[in-house]
Amino acid sequence: MSAAAASRPIGVFDSGVGGLTVVRALMERLPLEDIVYFGDTARVPYGVKSVATIEHFTAQITEFLLQRDVKMLIIACNTMAAVAAEVVHRLAAGIPVLDVIEAGARAAVAASPGRRIGVIGTPTTINSNAYARRMHELDPTVRVYSQACPLFVPLVEEGWLEHEVTRLTAQEYLRPVLAEEVDSLVLGCTHYPLLKPLLRDVAGLHVRLIDSALTTAEFAAERLQQAGLARTGGVADYRFVVSDVPLRFQTIGERFLGRSLGTVEKVDW
Ligand code: DGL
Repeated sequence: MSAAAASRPIGVFDSGVGGLTVVRALMERLPLEDIVYFGDTARVPYGVKSVATIEHFTAQITEFLLQRDVKMLIIACNTMAAVAAEVVHRLAAGIPVLDVIEAGARAAVAASPGRRIGVIGTPTTINSNAYARRMHELDPTVRVYSQACPLFVPLVEEGWLEHEVTRLTAQEYLRPVLAEEVDSLVLGCTHYPLLKPLLRDVAGLHVRLIDSALTTAEFAAERLQQAGLARTGGVADYRFVVSDVPLRFQTIGERFLGRSLGTVEKVDW
């Protein structure tokens, strides 16, 4: 593969700012790679929308990133990965496509000696059963216990990462999953890595938390190496494109990214 092919950016996308948790992990794991991020901030949340609508939006975003000449596409949104990954693969025409569900499912199966895995996510992700299906393909003996946690997304966006309300909500949501004595818990939504300290408290130290942002970055590094597409030098360039710039966008975005966002471009659709 030529150096020119390797110098193209990685395209990462999400329904809003949440996918910046994946960008953050990518920046740490692959510091030389250019990244173009698209967040559909005008139409977020996706987690409560229908499959047909999510497929339609996903196709539009994929085409936008392909026009930016990306060398790899990463579906950072669990909800899109759960119900619209096929759409991305079809449009990508040979470009490697990774998603948080594939990475999270592999990591969970590898990290669960007791074969009892909990999965939390948005209602659309959990209803799709995508995590459980993928984990059963990888290991038919695993037992998967899923729970939708619709209140977590607004609580994280509110910045209530350690708030008592969030703790009570987590205790309520996790009770049935923890009762099954799971040995790992997949954080199946872009927003949940920000709740890690609180979830670790609620779930207990014996439950391993699977952060799909970190495992996706690891997976991306492997795939770039295999495809001969890893950049070997230069200074990374980051572009952030959104479909709307809501009031608290900068603050929320920086919380997810863990650093300053810089210039944010608004798409002209
Ligand atoms: N990005 C979504 C996910 O990972 C959460 C926010 C939304 O509902 O759009 O499932």
